[in-house]
Amino acid sequence: MLESDAMSNSSGHIFQVVRQAARIEEIVGEHIALRPAGREFVGLCPFHEDRRPSMYVSPQKQIFYCFVCAAGGDVFKFVENYHKMSKGEALRFLAQRYGIALPEYRSASPQAHSQRDRIYEANVWAAQYFQKNLLGSIGETARQYLTARGVNAATIERFKIGCAETQWTALAAAAAKKGISQETLLAVGLVKSRSDGSPYDVFRNRLMFPIIDLSDRVIAFGGRILPTAASAQGTESPAGGDQDGPKYLNSPETALFSKRETLYALNLARQPLIRKQMAVVVEGYMDVVGCHQAGVENVVATLGTAMTEQHIHMLRRFCNRVALVFDSDDAGRRAADRAIELLLRYPVDVRIAHVPDGKDPCDFCMAHGGEAFEKILAQARDSLEYAWEKMYAMFQASDSLAGKQRASEALMRLVAPAILNSTVDPIRRGLLQKNIADLVGISPDEVHARIRKLSAAAPGTTNNAGATGAVGAVAPPPEPTTVDVGVQRAGLWIIGSLVSDFTLYALFRERISIDLFPEPAMASLLARLLEYLEELTDSSTGNLAEFMALLDDPELVRLVMQAQTEAERGGNFKQKLEDSLNRLEELSQLRSTAATDIDSPGGATPDEAARLKTVVDTRMLAAKTNKLRRPLGPRPQGG
Ligand code: CTP
Ligand code: MN
Repeated sequence: MLESDAMSNSSGHIFQVVRQAARIEEIVGEHIALRPAGREFVGLCPFHEDRRPSMYVSPQKQIFYCFVCAAGGDVFKFVENYHKMSKGEALRFLAQRYGIALPEYRSASPQAHSQRDRIYEANVWAAQYFQKNLLGSIGETARQYLTARGVNAATIERFKIGCAETQWTALAAAAAKKGISQETLLAVGLVKSRSDGSPYDVFRNRLMFPIIDLSDRVIAFGGRILPTAASAQGTESPAGGDQDGPKYLNSPETALFSKRETLYALNLARQPLIRKQMAVVVEGYMDVVGCHQAGVENVVATLGTAMTEQHIHMLRRFCNRVALVFDSDDAGRRAADRAIELLLRYPVDVRIAHVPDGKDPCDFCMAHGGEAFEKILAQARDSLEYAWEKMYAMFQASDSLAGKQRASEALMRLVAPAILNSTVDPIRRGLLQKNIADLVGISPDEVHARIRKLSAAAPGTTNNAGATGAVGAVAPPPEPTTVDVGVQRAGLWIIGSLVSDFTLYALFRERISIDLFPEPAMASLLARLLEYLEELTDSSTGNLAEFMALLDDPELVRLVMQAQTEAERGGNFKQKLEDSLNRLEELSQLRSTAATDIDSPGGATPDEAARLKTVVDTRMLAAKTNKLRRPLGPRPQGG
């Protein structure tokens, strides 16, 4: 809050510079897949669970706008919302992206630092600390291990891989020297407390993989045990537990890190993912590292958890095909089954691949190279086919009727969401239904009916994909108001004309007043617009994108978009603005006459009186809901 206020007042100029340098279609396009549509671009909205592309990006207006959830604004707003950044952070992000040097900001005081910032800083420091370890004498074992696995120096650098010392307090001591508080270290899970309160390192003798989010912030670590841990000297567990610990140790969940919402290396894989329109999901850190080194860069990994809905949403922002690559052991097959069950509920093209010879993707890539790995991906089996084959095997293996029925019903239940939600194309769906029909000896129609029934009976499955834990349901359309369409339209035109040509304000400033606007939402939109206009020193610097970004209420964003579109359709903003003002002034006069008539008995018929009263009430509500104080600043010149 403080930061953004300070910045917008003291350095509005730098925002202008960055805004001019930034291309919204470029920035949005780096975060979600966009395709051209006329003069604009469209893509899946990242701010709600979007099924059809409803996010529009206009290079000409420099705005983004979602027709479903009404998220919208300028390039800063997009970055703020997407990365959950403050305005200042978004400024820094964009300035860096376009190579613009920012004036130095003095962070007010160390205390003003938020807990979040401290956590990021501790993680960044720790990542560098681990990297330094790896390069020094401490890193001998780790380097040997990496070499044995075929990981080269460039890859180590790219993934910022490091290692943790064998000692129990190395990191804690180094951090203390750096002035990083024990409290912060505890919060990020880099240390734990002994019973006497002194800290000890959580990660010891491990290969360290920093987990980095889409804003390039280190949010957590994954630590892989190094092979010689057991032989390490002088290590005594304060907890008295075993010294090796699990093969992998991850940072605990914090406000910044949730495994369910994180994919390892998405920061590095994002662009390749968008380019190839396919995401490859593997199981391990090492697998990602190996694939990238072999030149296959659209690869990410889950963090020791099964795929979650959140992961799917993240990936669907970038592409609509997902290939899951599993080891060919039993665990890998089970993981594949679980993932399929979930993924079939979404309109994503899911494929399943297994790495042959009991190898994992990392070792496979190291041994056979990226091209061979791409071949495995190309041969990945369609998820429906995979489900079918699995069931077919079960069906054949069972010699009892009941067993066969169980197998076929299991399949039908599994594919039900995909089939009922038409997330698969009709041909594939038809083929699958025919296959099942042939096998079971009933008609495809009967198969379909059966699927419907099974799906209705199954808990957690509905005819509406994603309804289980849907992120943001589409908001119901706003209640129709009692305001007549003519007034509504005039209001829209006034606002639409003003945001299409900000210089018009000077011409009509005296006449534009929120009292003319009987509809509450529109009145408060106008109030916000007037505030914005009055603060501009030069009305020609008015900017729709910037104004939109100031609106926090999606309803207002929706309205301003509607207004702008309507006005643009008609063109001739000045004329339209004038006509609409005339119309509203006329109506306003009528209304005030009517209002006095209601008070004087015998004025209007009861029906009319009731209707007019509604209009008056709406207007009073409008006056109450908006807290407009017209600033008393100097008037713009040239009116
Ligand atoms: N994992 C974990 N905890 C464990 C084991 C595994 O969190 N005790 C997670 C890690 O995210 C790991 C992934 O599961 O990356 C896959 O495990 P595995 O295949 O054993 O790890 P790799 O990264 O492939 O490592 P390596 O090839 O060196 O065995
Ligand atoms: Mn592995």
